Amino acid sequence: MRMYDIIEKKRNGHVLTKKEIEYFINGYTNGEIPDYQVSALLMAIYFQDMTNDERAALTMAMVNSGDKIDLAPIKGIKADKHSTGGVGDTTTLILAPLVASLDVPVAKMSGRGLGHTGGTLDKLESVPGFHVEITNKAFIDLVNKNKIAIVGQSGNLTPADKKIYSLRDVTATVNSIPLIASSIMSKKIASGSDAIVLDVKTGAGAFMKDLDDAKNLADAMVSIGNHVGRKTMAVISDMSQPLGNAIGNALEIEEAIRTLSGKGPKDLTELCLTLGSQMVVLANKADNIESARKRLEENLTNGKAFEKFKVFLKSQGGDARVADNPDLLNKAKYKIDLPAQQSGTVAKLIADDIGSAAMMLGAGRATKDSVIDLAVGIVLHKKIGDDVKEGESLLTIHANQEKIEHVKEKLYASIDISHTPVKAPPLIYDTIT
Ligand code: URA
Ligand code: CA
Repeated sequence: MRMYDIIEKKRNGHVLTKKEIEYFINGYTNGEIPDYQVSALLMAIYFQDMTNDERAALTMAMVNSGDKIDLAPIKGIKADKHSTGGVGDTTTLILAPLVASLDVPVAKMSGRGLGHTGGTLDKLESVPGFHVEITNKAFIDLVNKNKIAIVGQSGNLTPADKKIYSLRDVTATVNSIPLIASSIMSKKIASGSDAIVLDVKTGAGAFMKDLDDAKNLADAMVSIGNHVGRKTMAVISDMSQPLGNAIGNALEIEEAIRTLSGKGPKDLTELCLTLGSQMVVLANKADNIESARKRLEENLTNGKAFEKFKVFLKSQGGDARVADNPDLLNKAKYKIDLPAQQSGTVAKLIADDIGSAAMMLGAGRATKDSVIDLAVGIVLHKKIGDDVKEGESLLTIHANQEKIEHVKEKLYASIDISHTPVKAPPLIYDTIT
Protein backbone atom coordinates (compact mmCIF):
# COMPACT_ATOMS: atom_id res chain seq x y z
CA MET A 1 0.00 0.00 0.00
CA ARG A 2 1.27 3.51 -0.81
CA MET A 3 0.22 6.77 0.79
CA TYR A 4 0.42 8.42 -2.64
CA ASP A 5 -2.36 6.16 -3.96
CA ILE A 6 -4.57 6.82 -0.95
CA ILE A 7 -4.24 10.59 -1.40
CA GLU A 8 -5.00 10.31 -5.12
CA LYS A 9 -8.02 8.07 -4.50
CA LYS A 10 -9.58 10.50 -2.00
CA ARG A 11 -8.66 13.50 -4.16
CA ASN A 12 -10.66 11.91 -6.99
CA GLY A 13 -13.69 11.44 -4.74
CA HIS A 14 -13.53 7.71 -4.14
CA VAL A 15 -14.26 5.83 -0.94
CA LEU A 16 -11.28 4.63 1.12
CA THR A 17 -11.31 1.12 2.56
CA LYS A 18 -10.92 0.37 6.26
CA LYS A 19 -7.45 -1.08 5.49
CA GLU A 20 -6.36 2.11 3.73
CA ILE A 21 -7.59 4.27 6.62
CA GLU A 22 -5.80 2.08 9.16
CA TYR A 23 -2.64 2.18 7.05
CA PHE A 24 -2.50 5.96 7.07
CA ILE A 25 -3.40 6.36 10.75
CA ASN A 26 -0.88 3.75 11.90
CA GLY A 27 1.82 5.05 9.57
CA TYR A 28 1.31 8.61 10.71
CA THR A 29 1.19 7.71 14.43
CA ASN A 30 4.48 5.81 14.28
CA GLY A 31 6.20 8.45 12.16
CA GLU A 32 6.53 6.52 8.91
CA ILE A 33 4.22 8.77 6.90
CA PRO A 34 5.34 12.43 6.76
CA ASP A 35 3.27 15.50 7.63
CA TYR A 36 3.13 16.71 4.02
CA GLN A 37 1.38 13.58 2.78
CA VAL A 38 -1.11 13.56 5.63
CA SER A 39 -1.74 17.29 5.04
CA ALA A 40 -2.63 16.53 1.43
CA LEU A 41 -4.98 13.73 2.45
CA LEU A 42 -6.68 15.94 5.06
CA MET A 43 -7.30 18.59 2.41
CA ALA A 44 -8.71 15.92 0.07
CA ILE A 45 -11.04 14.78 2.88
CA TYR A 46 -12.00 18.41 3.50
CA PHE A 47 -13.22 18.74 -0.11
CA GLN A 48 -14.45 15.20 -0.84
CA ASP A 49 -15.97 14.30 2.56
CA MET A 50 -16.26 10.75 3.87
CA THR A 51 -19.06 8.16 3.93
CA ASN A 52 -20.45 6.90 7.25
CA ASP A 53 -18.35 3.74 6.90
CA GLU A 54 -15.19 5.77 6.32
CA ARG A 55 -15.95 8.03 9.29
CA ALA A 56 -16.46 5.04 11.57
CA ALA A 57 -13.25 3.41 10.31
CA LEU A 58 -11.29 6.63 10.82
CA THR A 59 -12.66 6.98 14.36
CA MET A 60 -11.80 3.40 15.32
CA ALA A 61 -8.32 3.63 13.77
CA MET A 62 -7.67 6.67 15.98
CA VAL A 63 -9.12 4.88 19.04
CA ASN A 64 -6.78 1.95 18.37
CA SER A 65 -3.73 4.21 17.98
CA GLY A 66 -3.28 4.40 21.76
CA ASP A 67 -4.52 3.29 25.17
CA LYS A 68 -8.16 2.46 25.79
CA ILE A 69 -9.80 2.68 29.18
CA ASP A 70 -11.44 -0.58 30.13
CA LEU A 71 -14.56 0.09 32.19
CA ALA A 72 -15.75 -3.54 32.03
CA PRO A 73 -15.19 -4.03 35.81
CA ILE A 74 -17.93 -1.45 36.40
CA LYS A 75 -21.36 -3.02 36.58
CA GLY A 76 -24.16 -1.68 34.41
CA ILE A 77 -24.30 0.54 31.35
CA LYS A 78 -21.85 3.41 31.78
CA ALA A 79 -23.17 6.69 30.43
CA ASP A 80 -21.06 9.68 29.50
CA LYS A 81 -21.81 13.21 28.32
CA HIS A 82 -19.68 15.36 26.09
CA SER A 83 -20.11 19.03 25.36
CA THR A 84 -18.43 20.72 22.43
CA GLY A 85 -17.52 23.52 24.83
CA GLY A 86 -19.07 26.72 26.03
CA VAL A 87 -19.02 29.62 28.46
CA GLY A 88 -20.30 29.12 32.00
CA ASP A 89 -21.26 25.56 31.10
CA THR A 90 -21.78 24.15 34.58
CA THR A 91 -23.68 21.13 33.23
CA THR A 92 -21.33 18.26 34.12
CA LEU A 93 -21.16 19.27 37.79
CA ILE A 94 -24.92 18.87 38.03
CA LEU A 95 -25.59 16.14 35.51
CA ALA A 96 -23.10 13.62 36.89
CA PRO A 97 -24.49 13.45 40.46
CA LEU A 98 -28.05 13.88 39.16
CA VAL A 99 -28.02 10.80 36.92
CA ALA A 100 -25.86 8.88 39.41
CA SER A 101 -28.67 9.46 41.93
CA LEU A 102 -30.79 7.23 39.66
CA ASP A 103 -28.06 4.55 39.77
CA VAL A 104 -26.63 5.31 36.33
CA PRO A 105 -22.87 4.67 36.62
CA VAL A 106 -20.92 7.80 35.62
CA ALA A 107 -17.20 7.17 35.06
CA LYS A 108 -16.15 10.49 33.66
CA MET A 109 -12.92 11.83 32.27
CA SER A 110 -12.93 15.59 32.08
CA GLY A 111 -10.63 18.31 30.87
CA ARG A 112 -9.25 21.66 31.89
CA GLY A 113 -10.36 25.00 30.53
CA LEU A 114 -8.63 26.76 27.67
CA GLY A 115 -9.37 30.18 26.19
CA HIS A 116 -12.90 31.43 26.82
CA THR A 117 -14.26 27.98 27.76
CA GLY A 118 -14.02 26.52 31.26
CA GLY A 119 -13.05 23.01 32.32
CA THR A 120 -14.78 20.72 34.79
CA LEU A 121 -11.51 19.68 36.49
CA ASP A 122 -10.63 23.28 37.35
CA LYS A 123 -14.10 23.90 38.73
CA LEU A 124 -13.92 20.80 40.94
CA GLU A 125 -10.51 21.82 42.24
CA SER A 126 -12.05 24.97 43.67
CA VAL A 127 -13.58 22.69 46.32
CA PRO A 128 -10.88 22.53 49.04
CA GLY A 129 -9.12 19.15 49.08
CA PHE A 130 -10.75 17.76 45.93
CA HIS A 131 -8.34 15.86 43.74
CA VAL A 132 -8.78 14.65 40.18
CA GLU A 133 -5.71 12.41 39.96
CA ILE A 134 -6.70 9.01 41.21
CA THR A 135 -5.54 5.55 40.11
CA ASN A 136 -7.53 3.55 37.60
CA LYS A 137 -8.42 1.05 40.28
CA ALA A 138 -9.64 3.70 42.72
CA PHE A 139 -11.66 5.27 39.89
CA ILE A 140 -13.41 2.00 39.10
CA ASP A 141 -13.98 1.16 42.78
CA LEU A 142 -15.55 4.57 43.36
CA VAL A 143 -17.97 4.20 40.45
CA ASN A 144 -18.96 0.71 41.63
CA LYS A 145 -19.52 2.02 45.14
CA ASN A 146 -21.08 5.47 44.55
CA LYS A 147 -21.98 5.40 40.81
CA ILE A 148 -19.82 8.48 40.25
CA ALA A 149 -16.20 9.56 39.84
CA ILE A 150 -14.57 12.27 37.70
CA VAL A 151 -10.88 12.17 36.81
CA GLY A 152 -8.36 13.87 34.58
CA GLN A 153 -7.27 12.09 31.42
CA SER A 154 -4.50 9.61 32.06
CA GLY A 155 -2.48 7.44 29.73
CA ASN A 156 -1.77 7.82 26.06
CA LEU A 157 -5.29 8.24 24.66
CA THR A 158 -5.75 8.71 20.89
CA PRO A 159 -2.21 9.86 19.97
CA ALA A 160 -3.26 9.85 16.28
CA ASP A 161 -5.89 12.49 17.03
CA LYS A 162 -3.35 14.69 18.85
CA LYS A 163 -0.97 14.61 15.88
CA ILE A 164 -3.68 15.10 13.29
CA TYR A 165 -5.37 17.91 15.24
CA SER A 166 -2.09 19.85 15.42
CA LEU A 167 -1.61 19.36 11.69
CA ARG A 168 -5.18 20.47 10.91
CA ASP A 169 -4.60 23.58 12.95
CA VAL A 170 -1.85 24.75 10.57
CA THR A 171 -3.29 23.46 7.29
CA ALA A 172 -6.76 25.08 7.35
CA THR A 173 -8.48 21.70 7.75
CA VAL A 174 -9.98 22.03 11.24
CA ASN A 175 -13.40 22.93 9.91
CA SER A 176 -14.42 19.62 8.38
CA ILE A 177 -17.36 17.58 9.69
CA PRO A 178 -15.82 14.10 9.20
CA LEU A 179 -12.56 15.25 10.82
CA ILE A 180 -14.19 17.01 13.78
CA ALA A 181 -16.70 14.20 14.38
CA SER A 182 -14.05 11.46 14.30
CA SER A 183 -11.72 13.52 16.50
CA ILE A 184 -14.30 14.05 19.24
CA MET A 185 -15.79 10.55 19.05
CA SER A 186 -12.39 8.80 19.10
CA LYS A 187 -11.62 10.42 22.46
CA LYS A 188 -15.04 9.54 23.88
CA ILE A 189 -14.85 5.94 22.70
CA ALA A 190 -11.28 5.46 23.97
CA SER A 191 -12.38 6.63 27.41
CA GLY A 192 -14.67 3.64 27.65
CA SER A 193 -18.34 4.47 28.15
CA ASP A 194 -21.09 2.30 26.67
CA ALA A 195 -23.50 5.15 26.05
CA ILE A 196 -22.74 8.70 24.99
CA VAL A 197 -24.89 11.83 25.11
CA LEU A 198 -23.55 14.76 23.11
CA ASP A 199 -24.29 18.40 23.81
CA VAL A 200 -23.47 20.21 20.59
CA LYS A 201 -23.43 23.94 21.17
CA THR A 202 -24.30 26.57 18.63
CA GLY A 203 -23.99 30.37 18.68
CA ALA A 204 -21.33 33.00 19.36
CA GLY A 205 -19.61 31.13 22.20
CA ALA A 206 -19.59 27.79 20.39
CA PHE A 207 -17.15 26.01 18.13
CA MET A 208 -20.03 25.64 15.64
CA LYS A 209 -21.43 29.17 15.33
CA ASP A 210 -24.04 28.19 12.76
CA LEU A 211 -27.09 26.04 13.58
CA ASP A 212 -26.93 23.97 10.37
CA ASP A 213 -23.25 23.17 10.98
CA ALA A 214 -24.06 22.14 14.55
CA LYS A 215 -26.85 19.84 13.30
CA ASN A 216 -24.55 18.26 10.73
CA LEU A 217 -21.88 17.68 13.35
CA ALA A 218 -24.38 16.16 15.78
CA ASP A 219 -25.77 13.84 13.09
CA ALA A 220 -22.26 12.79 12.13
CA MET A 221 -21.25 11.99 15.72
CA VAL A 222 -24.47 10.12 16.55
CA SER A 223 -24.01 8.08 13.40
CA ILE A 224 -20.39 7.21 14.24
CA GLY A 225 -21.26 6.24 17.83
CA ASN A 226 -24.10 3.93 16.85
CA HIS A 227 -22.05 2.53 13.94
CA VAL A 228 -19.30 1.36 16.30
CA GLY A 229 -21.66 -0.07 18.91
CA ARG A 230 -21.96 2.78 21.41
CA LYS A 231 -25.50 3.99 22.00
CA THR A 232 -25.41 7.68 21.19
CA MET A 233 -27.87 10.60 21.35
CA ALA A 234 -27.41 14.34 20.97
CA VAL A 235 -28.85 17.69 21.93
CA ILE A 236 -28.23 20.92 20.03
CA SER A 237 -28.20 23.73 22.57
CA ASP A 238 -27.75 27.47 22.55
CA MET A 239 -24.40 29.10 23.34
CA SER A 240 -25.12 32.58 22.01
CA GLN A 241 -25.15 33.70 25.66
CA PRO A 242 -23.47 32.02 28.64
CA LEU A 243 -25.33 29.12 30.26
CA GLY A 244 -26.82 29.84 33.66
CA ASN A 245 -25.65 32.93 35.52
CA ALA A 246 -22.19 32.10 36.88
CA ILE A 247 -18.95 32.07 34.88
CA GLY A 248 -15.85 31.18 36.88
CA ASN A 249 -14.70 28.13 38.79
CA ALA A 250 -15.82 28.48 42.43
CA LEU A 251 -18.79 30.57 41.28
CA GLU A 252 -19.94 27.69 39.09
CA ILE A 253 -19.60 25.22 41.97
CA GLU A 254 -21.92 27.46 43.92
CA GLU A 255 -24.31 27.56 40.95
CA ALA A 256 -24.19 23.75 40.70
CA ILE A 257 -25.04 23.42 44.40
CA ARG A 258 -28.05 25.69 43.95
CA THR A 259 -29.19 23.79 40.85
CA LEU A 260 -28.82 20.43 42.59
CA SER A 261 -31.12 21.77 45.30
CA GLY A 262 -33.75 22.60 42.67
CA LYS A 263 -33.05 26.35 42.86
CA GLY A 264 -30.81 26.84 39.86
CA PRO A 265 -31.17 29.07 36.79
CA LYS A 266 -33.94 27.91 34.48
CA ASP A 267 -31.79 27.37 31.39
CA LEU A 268 -29.10 25.37 33.20
CA THR A 269 -31.70 23.22 34.96
CA GLU A 270 -33.56 22.57 31.70
CA LEU A 271 -30.41 21.54 29.83
CA CYS A 272 -29.39 19.17 32.64
CA LEU A 273 -32.85 17.56 32.63
CA THR A 274 -32.79 17.19 28.84
CA LEU A 275 -29.31 15.65 28.69
CA GLY A 276 -29.91 13.65 31.86
CA SER A 277 -33.11 12.08 30.49
CA GLN A 278 -31.16 10.82 27.48
CA MET A 279 -28.43 9.36 29.71
CA VAL A 280 -30.97 7.59 31.91
CA VAL A 281 -32.77 6.08 28.91
CA LEU A 282 -29.51 4.96 27.26
CA ALA A 283 -28.46 3.34 30.55
CA ASN A 284 -31.77 1.40 30.61
CA LYS A 285 -32.90 3.01 33.86
CA ALA A 286 -36.15 4.31 32.33
CA ASP A 287 -38.34 3.22 29.44
CA ASN A 288 -38.71 6.60 27.85
CA ILE A 289 -37.53 10.21 27.99
CA GLU A 290 -40.67 11.41 29.79
CA SER A 291 -40.41 8.98 32.70
CA ALA A 292 -36.65 9.57 32.96
CA ARG A 293 -37.24 13.29 33.20
CA LYS A 294 -39.90 12.91 35.86
CA ARG A 295 -37.57 10.86 38.06
CA LEU A 296 -34.73 13.34 37.59
CA GLU A 297 -37.01 16.23 38.53
CA GLU A 298 -37.98 14.35 41.68
CA ASN A 299 -34.37 13.86 42.69
CA LEU A 300 -33.66 17.57 42.27
CA THR A 301 -36.37 18.44 44.76
CA ASN A 302 -36.21 15.50 47.23
CA GLY A 303 -32.52 16.07 48.02
CA LYS A 304 -31.20 12.85 46.48
CA ALA A 305 -29.12 14.57 43.75
CA PHE A 306 -27.74 17.01 46.32
CA GLU A 307 -26.79 14.16 48.68
CA LYS A 308 -25.07 12.33 45.81
CA PHE A 309 -23.03 15.45 45.10
CA LYS A 310 -21.83 15.51 48.72
CA VAL A 311 -20.88 11.82 48.61
CA PHE A 312 -19.00 12.48 45.37
CA LEU A 313 -17.05 15.47 46.74
CA LYS A 314 -16.08 13.56 49.88
CA SER A 315 -15.07 10.43 47.96
CA GLN A 316 -12.39 12.38 46.09
CA GLY A 317 -11.06 14.22 49.11
CA GLY A 318 -13.21 17.34 48.80
CA ASP A 319 -14.67 19.29 51.69
CA ALA A 320 -18.34 18.32 51.33
CA ARG A 321 -19.35 21.00 53.82
CA VAL A 322 -19.24 23.49 50.92
CA ALA A 323 -22.53 22.01 49.70
CA ASP A 324 -24.33 23.28 52.79
CA ASN A 325 -22.15 26.31 53.20
CA PRO A 326 -20.81 27.69 49.89
CA ASP A 327 -19.09 30.50 51.84
CA LEU A 328 -16.33 27.96 52.49
CA LEU A 329 -15.35 28.25 48.80
CA ASN A 330 -12.62 30.65 47.72
CA LYS A 331 -13.99 34.18 47.54
CA ALA A 332 -12.70 37.06 45.45
CA LYS A 333 -11.65 40.24 47.27
CA TYR A 334 -13.78 42.65 45.25
CA LYS A 335 -17.37 42.50 44.05
CA ILE A 336 -18.03 45.16 41.45
CA ASP A 337 -21.39 45.74 39.78
CA LEU A 338 -21.69 46.73 36.13
CA PRO A 339 -24.59 49.18 35.82
CA ALA A 340 -26.69 49.37 32.64
CA GLN A 341 -25.89 52.56 30.70
CA GLN A 342 -29.45 52.79 29.38
CA SER A 343 -32.89 51.30 29.92
CA GLY A 344 -34.27 48.69 27.55
CA THR A 345 -34.19 44.96 26.85
CA VAL A 346 -30.99 42.90 26.80
CA ALA A 347 -30.55 41.94 23.14
CA LYS A 348 -27.04 40.53 23.14
CA LEU A 349 -24.79 38.92 25.72
CA ILE A 350 -22.04 37.64 23.47
CA ALA A 351 -20.89 34.39 25.07
CA ASP A 352 -17.30 34.19 23.84
CA ASP A 353 -16.58 37.84 24.70
CA ILE A 354 -17.98 37.39 28.21
CA GLY A 355 -15.87 34.24 28.51
CA SER A 356 -12.83 36.30 27.45
CA ALA A 357 -13.66 38.94 30.08
CA ALA A 358 -13.73 36.20 32.74
CA MET A 359 -10.39 34.98 31.42
CA MET A 360 -8.96 38.52 31.77
CA LEU A 361 -9.94 38.39 35.46
CA GLY A 362 -7.92 35.18 35.77
CA ALA A 363 -10.76 32.62 35.64
CA GLY A 364 -9.48 30.98 32.45
CA ARG A 365 -6.24 30.09 30.70
CA ALA A 366 -4.85 32.20 27.86
CA THR A 367 -2.34 29.39 27.18
CA LYS A 368 -2.08 25.80 28.41
CA ASP A 369 0.45 26.87 31.07
CA SER A 370 -1.44 29.84 32.55
CA VAL A 371 -2.19 29.69 36.26
CA ILE A 372 -5.83 30.41 37.04
CA ASP A 373 -7.59 32.10 39.94
CA LEU A 374 -10.41 29.83 41.10
CA ALA A 375 -12.29 32.57 42.98
CA VAL A 376 -12.84 35.14 40.24
CA GLY A 377 -15.48 35.42 37.54
CA ILE A 378 -18.77 36.97 36.58
CA VAL A 379 -22.34 36.51 37.80
CA LEU A 380 -25.01 37.65 35.35
CA HIS A 381 -28.18 39.23 36.68
CA LYS A 382 -29.78 39.70 33.27
CA LYS A 383 -30.03 37.41 30.28
CA ILE A 384 -31.21 38.00 26.71
CA GLY A 385 -34.85 39.13 26.71
CA ASP A 386 -34.74 40.59 30.25
CA ASP A 387 -35.71 44.21 30.82
CA VAL A 388 -33.23 46.47 32.55
CA LYS A 389 -33.34 50.03 33.90
CA GLU A 390 -30.52 52.51 33.50
CA GLY A 391 -28.18 52.15 36.47
CA GLU A 392 -29.44 48.70 37.40
CA SER A 393 -26.73 46.03 37.77
CA LEU A 394 -26.33 43.85 34.67
CA LEU A 395 -23.80 41.62 36.35
CA THR A 396 -21.37 41.42 39.25
CA ILE A 397 -17.64 41.08 38.62
CA HIS A 398 -15.78 39.00 41.23
CA ALA A 399 -12.16 40.17 41.04
CA ASN A 400 -8.94 39.96 42.96
CA GLN A 401 -7.66 43.18 41.43
CA GLU A 402 -9.10 46.62 41.94
CA LYS A 403 -8.28 48.03 38.52
CA ILE A 404 -10.61 46.33 36.07
CA GLU A 405 -11.49 49.10 33.64
CA HIS A 406 -10.33 46.94 30.72
CA VAL A 407 -12.64 44.13 31.82
CA LYS A 408 -15.59 46.49 32.19
CA GLU A 409 -14.93 47.87 28.73
CA LYS A 410 -14.86 44.36 27.28
CA LEU A 411 -18.13 43.53 29.04
CA TYR A 412 -19.93 46.68 27.90
CA ALA A 413 -18.82 45.91 24.34
CA SER A 414 -20.29 42.41 24.60
CA ILE A 415 -23.73 43.55 25.82
CA ASP A 416 -26.39 45.22 23.67
CA ILE A 417 -29.46 46.86 25.13
CA SER A 418 -32.33 47.44 22.71
CA HIS A 419 -35.27 49.83 22.83
CA THR A 420 -37.51 47.35 21.04
CA PRO A 421 -38.68 44.05 22.55
CA VAL A 422 -36.32 41.09 22.18
CA LYS A 423 -37.20 37.44 22.67
CA ALA A 424 -34.89 35.07 24.54
CA PRO A 425 -33.29 32.59 22.11
CA PRO A 426 -34.46 28.97 22.33
CA LEU A 427 -32.28 26.88 24.65
CA ILE A 428 -32.68 23.55 22.87
CA TYR A 429 -32.77 23.61 19.08
CA ASP A 430 -33.02 19.93 18.48
CA THR A 431 -32.67 16.53 20.11
CA ILE A 432 -31.39 13.56 18.16
CA THR A 433 -32.42 10.20 19.63
N1 URA B 1 -12.66 19.44 19.23
C1 URA B 1 -12.00 18.28 19.02
O1 URA B 1 -11.73 17.55 19.96
N2 URA B 1 -11.64 17.96 17.77
C2 URA B 1 -11.92 18.73 16.72
O2 URA B 1 -11.57 18.37 15.62
C3 URA B 1 -12.60 19.94 16.94
C4 URA B 1 -12.96 20.27 18.21
CA1 CA C 1 -23.02 28.78 34.51
